[in-house]
Amino acid sequence: MTVLRVENLRVHYHTKDGPVRAVENVSFALQRGERLGLVGESGSGKSTMVLSLLRMLKPPARIESGRVLLGDIDLLALTDAQMRAARFSQIALIPQGAMNSLNPVMRIKTQLMDTIRYHNRNNRLDQSEIMAHIHELLEAVGLDRSVANMYPHELSGGMKQRVCIAMGISLQPQVILADEPTSALDVVVQRQVMETLGQAQEEIGASLILVGHDMGLMAQFVNTIGVMYAGKLVEIGPVDAIFEEPLHPYTRLLIASLPSLEGKRIFRGIPGITPSLLTPPPGCAFHPRCPQVMEHCKAEAPVLQEVRPGRWVSCLLY
Ligand SMILES: Nc1ncnc2c1ncn2[C@@H]1O[C@H](COP(=O)(O)OP(=O)(O)OP(=O)(O)O)[C@@H](O)[C@H]1O
Ligand code: SF4
Ligand SMILES: [Mg+2]
Repeated sequence: MTVLRVENLRVHYHTKDGPVRAVENVSFALQRGERLGLVGESGSGKSTMVLSLLRMLKPPARIESGRVLLGDIDLLALTDAQMRAARFSQIALIPQGAMNSLNPVMRIKTQLMDTIRYHNRNNRLDQSEIMAHIHELLEAVGLDRSVANMYPHELSGGMKQRVCIAMGISLQPQVILADEPTSALDVVVQRQVMETLGQAQEEIGASLILVGHDMGLMAQFVNTIGVMYAGKLVEIGPVDAIFEEPLHPYTRLLIASLPSLEGKRIFRGIPGITPSLLTPPPGCAFHPRCPQVMEHCKAEAPVLQEVRPGRWVSCLLY
């Protein structure tokens, strides 16, 4: 069952030099319980995409067009008040650098309470029920309930990140968006926090979009991989199939650039310069770096299409 469907989403930053085309015609669907991993080099538009789904971007960013369908509801057509009500309860974000988003002068319980209370304005829950829920949430992410009384500076990075996961799942959303939830943590803590996120997601039956750089972690954690390049989704498909046989030349380089030894398999980049999204190269934006470039790639822009069952690729080779 499809939970979230993104159609032709375009998001630009309107700078004094012109529009930065951070997200260009992105379309994909997310099924119930699915884990979609979004990868791509820095500046490829991953965070912009994720933030636009929640309408949390600030000017100069503007959603130019598209639809974000959660069930039958187009999030982009909601009023601001309706959108605020949908955040956390329907679709929640664990933002990039989430642990720094905690308020340093507020106890953890107060911050969790704020989220829960906002969506509890008809007072279905009384104070003691809210507190019980907070304790449950903390325990669900592997923290002791005593953490409720602490301030962020009393917690380690991994603990803060768990608090942010607790906040994300607090209202049992259908979709969780996690933007590099573990990038600031060491490898061991990273795995533990990912496990916690996975368990929490499964428990509430949510779908997950995970933005990340660590392909090793992705390979183990997600069902589907989406690869972004210069604001576009260039390949999307089942994780096993993509690792076994990547079809887009950029995905091939991404996977070939991973060290084969065990350890942290972080994508460190491929030769060539990341294109400017202010003046992206004409035709296929990857053509200046593509080992398989053809003459017509310089003028003709490929579109994402299903080139094999379940395999979507945007490349003129197919
Ligand atoms: N406020 C802004 N004004 C202008 N351009 C912006 C702004 N924020 C982001 N951009 C541009 O939008 C593009 C996409 O940025 P985004 O943060 O979405 O990338 P990302 O894939 O999340 O990168 P990272 O992996 O580094 O987090 C980049 O080219 C960036 O320079
Ligand atoms: S369209 Fe051409 S330049 Fe772009 S990835 Fe495919 S082969 Fe390479
Ligand atoms: Mg980002």
